[in-house]
Amino acid sequence: MDESTGEIGLFEAIYSQRAIRSFKPDPVPDELIERVVEAATKAPSGGNSQPWAFIVVRDPVTRAELGAIARQTFDGMYQAALGRAQPGDPPPFPKLKVMVDHIDDIPVWIAICLTMPGSPGAYGSIWPAVQNLLLAARGLGLGAVLTGLLGGPGLEQTRKVLGIPDEVEPVAFVPLGFPDKQRYGPTTRRPLSEVLHWERWEEGKANTAKMPYRR
Ligand SMILES: Cc1cc2nc3c(=O)[nH]c(=O)nc-3n(C[C@H](O)[C@H](O)[C@H](O)COP(=O)(O)O)c2cc1C
Repeated sequence: MDESTGEIGLFEAIYSQRAIRSFKPDPVPDELIERVVEAATKAPSGGNSQPWAFIVVRDPVTRAELGAIARQTFDGMYQAALGRAQPGDPPPFPKLKVMVDHIDDIPVWIAICLTMPGSPGAYGSIWPAVQNLLLAARGLGLGAVLTGLLGGPGLEQTRKVLGIPDEVEPVAFVPLGFPDKQRYGPTTRRPLSEVLHWERWEEGKANTAKMPYRR
């Protein structure tokens, strides 16, 4: 860690960035939000098209409206999962539920929008920015997670609340805040030995990489 800025190095950020779903209600200084968004804008994009826009929501009234949409979406997912559950199964989505139970306390939401949907490779030009944003949050001691809770069945409502025009597609919704009852990584990821193929495809590795990672 750099003692003068409190910032951590790139590799420490990469190795410890993880989905944070528990946030302190403390506001996030605008300066930090701007740094996170600016880091996102440093990402590569096809032909340097930079087809992105970021809607930052701090206003409590708007956050409450978004919270209501997220709760509704989550309730649908939760009930559907309960319907599929076998006797004795643990309750579904335990981590996400904690976030949704405290959703109005999340101090900031960032909607990451694709301004040129439909163009070739459009999505490939937005996800690197999303990853930069998540890493920058980690680097500044903030927590964040990618969620779809404001999309799916609630997308039209979300569009309305945020005034997103038809030609713009929100692709990711990221709550941002200081982590509360959760730690950063180390992350649990497939080991290199299962995913790194030297020189050509190594038979045997393909199968492990196709399985959902549940460790
Ligand atoms: C495309 C994408 C969609 C995701 N959607 C959600 C989501 O809707 N809700 C959520 O809580 N986490 C979501 N996540 C976060 C993942 O669940 C998380 O990154 C993964 O489980 C690894 O957890 P970790 O980062 O804590 O190690 C999403 C991640 C990606 C890349």
